[in-house]
Amino acid sequence: MLEALYLARFAHSAQLAVEAVARFPGGVTHDGRTAIPFPLFITQATGAYKWDVDGNKLIDYWCGHGALLLGHGHPTVIAAVQAQLERGTHLGGESPLALRWAELIQTLVPGAERVRFTSSGTEATMLALRLARACTGRPKIVRFQGHFHGWHDMATPGADPDDPHAGLPAELLGNIITLPADLDVVADTLAHTNDVAAVILEPTGAAYGTVPLPDSFLQNLRALTSDRDVLLICDEVVTGFRVSPGGAAARAGVVADLTCLAKILAGGLPGGAVVGREVLMRRLATGEDAGDPRGRIRHQGTYNANPLSAAAGVVCLELVAAGAPAVAAERGRELLAALNQVFLSYATHGMTAYGEGSIVHLFADPAVDVAPGQVPAGLTVNALKRGGNPRLLNALRLAMQLNGTDLMRGRSAFVSAAHTSADVAATAAALADALGMLQLDFGLRKI
Ligand SMILES: Cc1ncc(COP(=O)(O)O)c(C=O)c1O
Repeated sequence: MLEALYLARFAHSAQLAVEAVARFPGGVTHDGRTAIPFPLFITQATGAYKWDVDGNKLIDYWCGHGALLLGHGHPTVIAAVQAQLERGTHLGGESPLALRWAELIQTLVPGAERVRFTSSGTEATMLALRLARACTGRPKIVRFQGHFHGWHDMATPGADPDDPHAGLPAELLGNIITLPADLDVVADTLAHTNDVAAVILEPTGAAYGTVPLPDSFLQNLRALTSDRDVLLICDEVVTGFRVSPGGAAARAGVVADLTCLAKILAGGLPGGAVVGREVLMRRLATGEDAGDPRGRIRHQGTYNANPLSAAAGVVCLELVAAGAPAVAAERGRELLAALNQVFLSYATHGMTAYGEGSIVHLFADPAVDVAPGQVPAGLTVNALKRGGNPRLLNALRLAMQLNGTDLMRGRSAFVSAAHTSADVAATAAALADALGMLQLDFGLRKI
């Protein structure tokens, strides 16, 4: 019944999905856009909304995979990018724009003594890990179960315990130590392993806080790594400029040795950066600044500090400095409360919204005992990342889309400064209607 409704409402997407299977592996351009029975094909977006090929309007909570803190097509970002388009899309040299971009990063992010731009978050973590190994002369990296750092060789193992390691050299796997997010285990590992270059983490927990960590974890990890002379790399690709203007580490009062940035950094255009201590970043220096050439790290990239990304990044970070993260966070808190209010109207267990600020996660599994507003306890990292019962979650995603709301992968919301209280109310109404559609099939009991 639900699928029939879905097929009728999103008929053109269904057609394009057939064509997509013949053109893209798996019919998608990003693993995370995979959807059953088919992904929606989107043609345009503005503010908090997007429209699909069938003309359906959806409140969007993907928000550019978290990159669009200001919402789609913020007028200031559009104007800056349009102006830069006229002046050139690649300037074949350094630009004053990139300097201003770096200056804003240095003002906002503690410890950003030097900045090296990349084209993506994946490139940023790849470079940070290589820097750490070069600077310490040690080969190993400690990372945490389920934390996501992009898809390069060093980032893939440990991101998902179920993932196959196809294509990864076996000798590389020996240099990646994947630990549970348990400080005693980290302390024990660092005490017994003397060839660890760095510890890398998502500072608010795996998958942007889907498996949350308190600020105290980061604070204690900082102390632990400093004591052991191991570098701390904060992957703030999602949390940077969102959790606070300076990111999650800034909020916790922690200064990482190296920080990876992307997404909001470039105002919704492609871009990333590694920032950190001058004594480490010096390894990237060329020309007269370069030290011993054998210790140097080669780093190129045609689109590093691309002027369109820089133009968007500069105005976006100016709006971050002016308070955009707090606006989005306020709306996120409203959304969290409103969604849990709907869950509270059900006697069925296991449905909750949790998160912090502008990042909200849903969990739905009637077999799990959790109250609305709480984080399910005692689950594995994988189970929490999965978000509950796959069949219920998928049905909920379809029902939410049928009611005009598109959650990120069906279970998370990146709330932007463009979302309004009216959007929040409409989303809560969509959840109420969606649960109503699922009531019979999933035995959900209303109070
Ligand atoms: C924490 C984290 N690190 C790194 C990345 C990779 O960034 P990109 O997709 O720009 O390569 C992501 C992407 O979502 C991320 O969430």
